[in-house]
Parts: sequence; structure tokens; C-alpha cells
Amino acid sequence: MAFSSSISSGKLAAGRRRYAIVGLGSRHELYQDAIQTTYAHCAELVAVGDSNQGRMERSRQRSVRNRAVIPAGYLAADFGRLLAECRPDVVVVTTPDASHHEYIIAAMNAGCDVVTEKPLTIDADKCRRILEVSQLTGRRCRVAFNYRYSPPRTQVKEVLMSGVVGDILSVDFHWLLNTHHGADYFRRWHSRKEVSGGLLVHKSTHHFDLINWWLGAAPVAVMASGKREFYTPESAQRQGLTGAHKRCLTCSEKSQCDFYLDLAAKPKLKSLYLDQEKYDDYHRDQCVFRAEVDIEDTMNALVSYDSGATLSYSLNAFNAWEGYTVAFNGTKGRLEHTLVESVYLNGVETAASPLNGDDVKIRVVPLRGAGYDLAPWIAEGDHGGGDRLMLADIFLPEPPFDKYQRAADARAGVSSVIVGIGANRSLQTGARVLLADLLPEWVQLARGASIEA
Ligand SMILES: NC(=O)c1ccc[n+]([C@@H]2O[C@H](COP(=O)([O-])OP(=O)(O)OC[C@H]3O[C@@H](n4cnc5c(N)ncnc54)[C@H](O)[C@@H]3O)[C@@H](O)[C@H]2O)c1
Repeated sequence: MAFSSSISSGKLAAGRRRYAIVGLGSRHELYQDAIQTTYAHCAELVAVGDSNQGRMERSRQRSVRNRAVIPAGYLAADFGRLLAECRPDVVVVTTPDASHHEYIIAAMNAGCDVVTEKPLTIDADKCRRILEVSQLTGRRCRVAFNYRYSPPRTQVKEVLMSGVVGDILSVDFHWLLNTHHGADYFRRWHSRKEVSGGLLVHKSTHHFDLINWWLGAAPVAVMASGKREFYTPESAQRQGLTGAHKRCLTCSEKSQCDFYLDLAAKPKLKSLYLDQEKYDDYHRDQCVFRAEVDIEDTMNALVSYDSGATLSYSLNAFNAWEGYTVAFNGTKGRLEHTLVESVYLNGVETAASPLNGDDVKIRVVPLRGAGYDLAPWIAEGDHGGGDRLMLADIFLPEPPFDKYQRAADARAGVSSVIVGIGANRSLQTGARVLLADLLPEWVQLARGASIEA
């Protein structure tokens, strides 16, 4: 079933790249608004698609707010028709993680380039299929690793590139999610490993990508441990509740629960999810303590790289503050970086408050002599200002030369996600996993082989 736009896309000015977006939830708005406002001079949104008819219509109507032409709308099952009838140059994929590959592959086979949200995909077979179609079609698949563009993280790259701490032999990297943002993964589709790959894929893909990019190295092997001990029915009882419930909307103990989420009270959550439940029965406010959650909340991994460096990594989803610490131990000294992030809930209007200098520390400690702090690079906007910079790099026809090489392709997408996939395998087997055993193509890719024809 297709919903035609009220104004023919043929009347739009020539010369702009034609975009389609599939997956019209919270994250897609960043791309829709960028195409229809900031980059309207060089981009046009010709079609949108979603499995939920209500969110599809909502996205089409968002065009009115953006003073843009209303794009054609398609249900997910009609994606082939979307491609054939609307002939996008680029498809932006913002569906849940386990379905990214379907749209990436169909779009590339139809001759489109792709911009996909992270993670590229969630298992080795899907990685293989994406790599194959990239090679066969020669189309470009960009992975939206916005974390690279956050100014303090770019600054870390700058310091490492300067050689001031020498060659990096080991890295300690610890990421903390607080009980607002962290808990939110346990309410939504992310709480099912078959949809998100678990946090070692869904969330850690950002972190493993940062390490790959910061070090300019390829991961070789991973050993991991993980468990779920905070978001459990027992934990609900420890907090004085009778146990887990189905969802917040109908919960009999909502007034006693610190994790209660009122979808109706937040206009964006209401219009995106509560008002659209009638189409697909998807509940955005499932109980974080329910037994059927099958992702971990406590994860550790040891990763080896082809440069000889090793990474000691942790991710915990129930911390008292949100942010990370990372330290690079080099042959000439140590680079330490800490960043405290503001509370953040996906889909809620309260944008993260801008970072200020007190939240960010970057310190160089030479092997000999006194350590010193660097004035951090900071910027305003979501994800530490990273989203805005990434959008310019994606949508400008000729983005400025980037000495940090922040644009990430499918190879970078695989290089990151393969670590999380290997970590998941390690959780199952208890053994160290060689990434080339998961994905034999990885050996060549890791050596820098091109995946495009
Ligand atoms: N880079 C970042 O910082 C960042 C932040 C948030 C989300 N994301 C990524 O963006 C993607 C979307 O996340 P979100 O928070 O917007 O989720 P969401 O649940 O808000 O939206 C997902 C949308 O996809 C639709 N959908 C579900 N299955 C589909 C299918 N098979 N075909 C077509 N449409 C389908 C849903 O109806 C919904 O509209 C995810 O891959 C997520 O990892 C990235």
C-alpha cells in the first residue's frame, strides 16, 4: 500500500540527491530534518517507509513542519516498490538493528548508496551478505558513527596522531550508562538479542569503532564475560516491588517504581509510540525487570589488535553517572580522557545539555616529566555536537577535507560490529574467539582490502 505525496516529487528542483528513509522512529528525525531543512539545497526526501502505518504518516506530516514537500509513504512490505517508483539515490536505514541488512542489500541491489545507522548489523552471516553485495554492486554504504565527530573524541585522535604518547600498547576503556539511559535499553526492542545483538553489539559498536579509529588498527580476537544482574525480577523485589510487571502503562506499582516511564506525559513519546500501538502492538514502556529480557547489563571484554595493542573494556548499564574513562598507554606516555555525559532518554525532547569544560578531561602524562591537561574541544548539540558535524559530512555534496577520516564505510561497520559478535560468541562458549573464524573474509578486510568493486 503506497501513500502518494500531494505534490509530485518531479516538481522539485533538479540536481538534488534523492533520499528515502526506512524506519521512522526516534532516530530518523535527525535525518529527515537535515534533508528537509539544513541540506534542502542539495537533498530532497522522496519517500519514507516503515512497518507501522501510523509512524509512516507521522513522518510524512513532519514534512509540513519542515516546510518541505510531503514524501511518498510505503509500508515495509512494499520497499521494493518504493525503490522502483521513487528511484532514490540514497537510502537511509534507521530500522531496528536486525533488519538493517535487508534494506542495505535491497537498496544496493537497486543501485542506491546507503547511509545506515549503527550497528551495521548483528551477526557474522549478515556482515558477509552486506560485504558481498557491496562488492558486487560497487555501491557505497556509510555507517553513521556519530561518536567519531564529537569534538573531544576528535581531539583524542589528534593527540594520538601527533605521536606525543608514542605507539599505543594497551588501552583501558570503561563506559558507564546510568539508570535513566541504561534502563531504557531494557524497555524496548533492544532488550531482545535477536533484534539488537545485545549491548555488546548495539551499544559497544560505537566504542569498538572508536578504538579501531583511534588506534588505526584492526581487531583480531576477543574474550568476553557478561551477565544480567540488575534488570531482573529479583532486583524489582529488592527495590520493594512485588516483582516484574508487563509494562508501565498498566503497572499496579507505578507509583512506587523508580523506573516508571509515563509515555503519555511526554508529547514525543506519546505521538511516536503510544498513539501508534494500535498498528503493531509494540510497547515502548515494557518493564525493565521482566524475566524474558535476554541481554546483559554487565559486560567485560579483552580485545587484541593487529598492531599488537590490547584493550581492556567494560560496559555497565546501571551506573550512578553516565560517561566514560579511556586511557592509552603508549611508549612515550599515557593519554587519559574522561567525559561525563548528561542524562539522556531516547525519544524525549529534553536534549542533552551541552558539555562544558568541567565534564571533559584530557590529560597527557609523559613517561618522564610532569603531566598536563589540554583545554578540551567542545561543541553544542546532541551526542556532544557529533551529530551536527556528521550530518554535514553525510549530506554536503563536497564535504571539506577531513584529516581525521571520520567518514565510516561498511568495512568500518564490520570492523566494529565483529568484535561485539565475537564477544557474544565468547559469552556462549567461554573461549577466546578469533574473529577470522567468525568471518573468514575478515582476514583480508583487516589488511585494508577494499570491499568496493
Ligand atoms: N547513532 C546513534 O547515536 C543512535 C541513536 C539512537 C538510535 N540509533 C539507531 O537507529 C536505529 C533506530 O533506532 P530508534 O531509536 O529510532 O528506534 P525506534 O524504535 O524509535 O524506531 C524504529 C522504527 O523502525 C520501524 N520498524 C521496525 N521494524 C521494521 C522493519 N522490519 N522494517 C521497517 N521498519 C521497521 C518501527 O516501526 C519504528 O518506526 C537503530 O539501529 C539504532 O541503533 C543510533
